[in-house]
Amino acid sequence: MKKIKSIEDYHKEYKKSIEQPETFWSEIAENFIWKKKWDSVLKWDFNNYNVNWFLNGKLNITENCLDRHLSSKGNQPAIIWEPNDPKEKALTLTYKELHEKVCSFANVLKNNGCKKGDRICIYMPMVPELAIAVLACARIGAIHSVVFGGFSFNSLADRIHDADCNLVITSDGAYRGAKDIPLKSVVDEALKTCPTVKKVIVLRRTNSKVEMQNGRDVWWNDEIKKVNADCPAETMDAEDMLFILYTSGSTGKPKGVVHTCGGYMVYTGYTFKNVFQYNDGEIYWCTADVGWITGHSYLVYGPLLNGATTLMFEGIPTWPDAGRFWEVIDKHKVNIFYTAPTAIRSLEAMGLDFVKPHKLNSLRVLGTVGEPINAEAWNWYNENIGKNNCPIVDTWWQTETGGIMISPIAGITKTKPGFATLPLPGVQPVLLDESGKELQGNNVDGRLCMKFPWPGIIRTTYKNHERCKEVYFSTFKGYYFTGDGCRRDEDGYYRITGRVDDVIKVSGHLLGTAEIENAINEHADIVESAVVGFPHDIKGWGIYAYVICDRKRDDVEELKKEIIGTVNKFMGPIAKPDKIQIVTGLPKTRSGKIMRRILRKVAEGDVNNLGDTSTLLDPAVVEEIVKGAVK
Ligand code: WTA
Repeated sequence: MKKIKSIEDYHKEYKKSIEQPETFWSEIAENFIWKKKWDSVLKWDFNNYNVNWFLNGKLNITENCLDRHLSSKGNQPAIIWEPNDPKEKALTLTYKELHEKVCSFANVLKNNGCKKGDRICIYMPMVPELAIAVLACARIGAIHSVVFGGFSFNSLADRIHDADCNLVITSDGAYRGAKDIPLKSVVDEALKTCPTVKKVIVLRRTNSKVEMQNGRDVWWNDEIKKVNADCPAETMDAEDMLFILYTSGSTGKPKGVVHTCGGYMVYTGYTFKNVFQYNDGEIYWCTADVGWITGHSYLVYGPLLNGATTLMFEGIPTWPDAGRFWEVIDKHKVNIFYTAPTAIRSLEAMGLDFVKPHKLNSLRVLGTVGEPINAEAWNWYNENIGKNNCPIVDTWWQTETGGIMISPIAGITKTKPGFATLPLPGVQPVLLDESGKELQGNNVDGRLCMKFPWPGIIRTTYKNHERCKEVYFSTFKGYYFTGDGCRRDEDGYYRITGRVDDVIKVSGHLLGTAEIENAINEHADIVESAVVGFPHDIKGWGIYAYVICDRKRDDVEELKKEIIGTVNKFMGPIAKPDKIQIVTGLPKTRSGKIMRRILRKVAEGDVNNLGDTSTLLDPAVVEEIVKGAVK
């Protein structure tokens, strides 16, 4: 696949992608292996949402990730795995070895009753077997639904339910820093309410004691002995589902974002190569967990589609100390490093002593993803990690977009701290005002929408196409609405300013307020709660919870601890409230809707400007809330 070579080349490609999108994308798609070529490139409708790419094309993404590299790169590392504990040995899987392992595990899945179209839930630590499990599903045409290991049983059960999964792949436990997290027992708890699951495959990782249910639970390590490594790749239609990945919404349960085989492959393959300007032989490291879209697209699929070497890290940036990232970069001679602003800010806060002992001279490109990066963190990253010598790609995209949408091309687009800069070829962003009018020209602020499809766009939300239409295509007729606010500056550069809806980005993790509130309400004494975000120096956004308690509790601190424990138990530690305020009522309109605008202002400490409260059912409650605000 050819790469964009200069800024002139970028503009030329961009122009072509807008004027002749079908020619543009079909030329890129030619770089992949298809079992049968597509009949037409694109069919789309944003009004009654429906999008198809590469119609009637047949393929298997794993042939593109693995088989086709075997002759040229069979002995090149595909995955380098760095364990949680630096004393444990790192592991390398060549393309040949990865191919064998994926095929073998695909046969394990078949032996355990899996077939094309089945939904398989994967709930695992960051070990190579996680990538192997994902690819093995794709090999046989089963649809993977990876759930981040930081979610707890209730969130896991919701996701298993929604997708009607019949098999779960997990491990006994997971190492995260000094902690040993019992994954299997979380699965056991979740499965009490998930009758569709007939089998659980358990990888041994921590050797902790687990209960195995007879007839349902089998060990990965035993099953793998029963199979060989011969597993032909299932033929998939370009529009067959490749995976479901749950993402939080402002209301109700998380949405199962659906991506399909053909478009997702073409889009992640193309964007990986171009944004990072990947050169053959380079070591690339994306620190995201495979439980999130970044891990899917730019740890597993994007790099492997390009025959790259992708590094996978099991641990956390601050253990054994805050120099771990930098140590790993030197140890494995990482050339391209892609991480989250939260991680950068937290490591910046630990001081330069953790950076200084490391050379970092293998680095060529740096990237960020998942949330806006403030100029200060950007500059720190640039100076101390990149040594003013590595272009930074601030990549804006979403679970729903499948791949990077607005980003510099490394070393080619002139960067500006805090700006995702320009749309990639094929991406047509527009800024709309509240009435839905397109804002023309530069120096404008609006809501970020897309007016034309790209191959990686969300196809539907699982089993609920209406919800997909409603959430993404109804706010502004004829546009895909991202939910983000955005500025286009005097140079035509895009800067994402943050969410304009009720989801919160906490440490780069998108969390729905409704899901957190449900977890809080599991506490026996809590009758109602409302959650909003507030700006947080390290996490970007923190979680502020207003709770109504139905009996008098004098031990307020104890109650707060219990609430945190409840959230931990039902949803997981990532959703833990930073601040909790006990209130006797919530500001509601006469129709019963919580006025979150007011709660957000109080959480932000901006109480002088609460706006009109006269439409509230009980305006007095606002005064109480302001008085009791947690600083
Ligand atoms: C935010 C993550 C600013 C944004 C890949 C988006 C960003 C949401 C950036 C999607 C960025 C992502 N600058 N904000 N470079 N990248 N976001 O689905 O609010 O976990 O809508 O996908 O993250 O989060 P998601």
